[in-house]
This record gives sequence, C-alpha cells and structure tokens, in this order.
Amino acid sequence: MAIFKLQINGRGYQADVDPDTPLLWVLRDSLGLLGTKYGCGIAQCGACTVHLDGEATRSCVLPVSSIGKAKVITIEGLSANGEHPVQKAWDEIDVPQCGYCQAGQIMTAAALLKKNPKPTAAQIDDTMTGNLCRCGTYHRIRDAVKRAADYNNPAKPVKTK
Ligand code: FES
Ligand code: FES
Repeated sequence: MAIFKLQINGRGYQADVDPDTPLLWVLRDSLGLLGTKYGCGIAQCGACTVHLDGEATRSCVLPVSSIGKAKVITIEGLSANGEHPVQKAWDEIDVPQCGYCQAGQIMTAAALLKKNPKPTAAQIDDTMTGNLCRCGTYHRIRDAVKRAADYNNPAKPVKTK
C-alpha cells in the first residue's frame, strides 16, 4: 500500500492503495466517484473511460502508480451542470437506453471533439466504435456526436439525418 495524490475534476484527492490498483477502482471504491463504470476490465468496452490530460483513457487498466501529476477528469467533472455540448446533445437526442455504457461514450466523444471540433462521420465512427453498447444505441450516439459538433460550429450546422 502507498498513498497516491491525485488531481481529479479540479481538486486534490488521496488514496491509500496498492500501486497496481487500476484507477477505475480507486475512483469507485476509494473515492466514491461512481459515474465511471466497470464493464470488461480488460480495455475492450470503454465503459471506464476517463480523460487523462485530455486523452480518452481506459481506467480499468491504468495502474494508479502511473498517473503522477496527470489531470484526471471523470464524467462527474466534465461540466458543472451537465452542460457540456456532448451532454446537451445526448439529452437532446435522448441517447441512453439502460445507460450503463453512456458515461464512457460521453467521455470518449468529448475527447474527440476537443481535438477535432468538426469530425467527419468516418472519424466519429472510427473513434466511437471502440465503445461498446449492449443496448445498441450506436445510431443515436453517432447523431449526438454530430449534434455536439454543431454546437461547436454553429455557423455551419451538420445534418444529423
Ligand atoms: S471496463 Fe475498461 S474497457 Fe471495459
Ligand atoms: S445504453 Fe445500455 S449498454 Fe449502452
């Protein structure tokens, strides 16, 4: 066990855990940040996606000891009031079914749009295809990422249908 100091959602946290503990379990079990979900535990589904210095990162395979001073953002910290463009688009398109995969989907989409505010349909598919949804909400996810891109680029709306 060792004490790790972490920067998460703009504030400091401490966790006294084994160095190999994946960030996912530090978030959920040590810090009570339950928005980030466990799906597969082997970096295959994307349910556990958080941002690490702005990069979409699978927290289920990220040892806490590897984080150092990197800034972690979880779904709880993406915006103060759920008003991130991706969250607004998700709400508008009514994307979730059961909801389990959706925090990871939103974090992946938000990281994509930060790097590429106006992705093509192919770029959206390339990025989002690694996030699995057992409810099959893929069409609505695609539409919502396009809608969020419209918020980023109001002068040139992207058609969603
Ligand atoms: S739980 Fe991390 S990718 Fe599935
Ligand atoms: S909404 Fe149910 S798994 Fe994606």
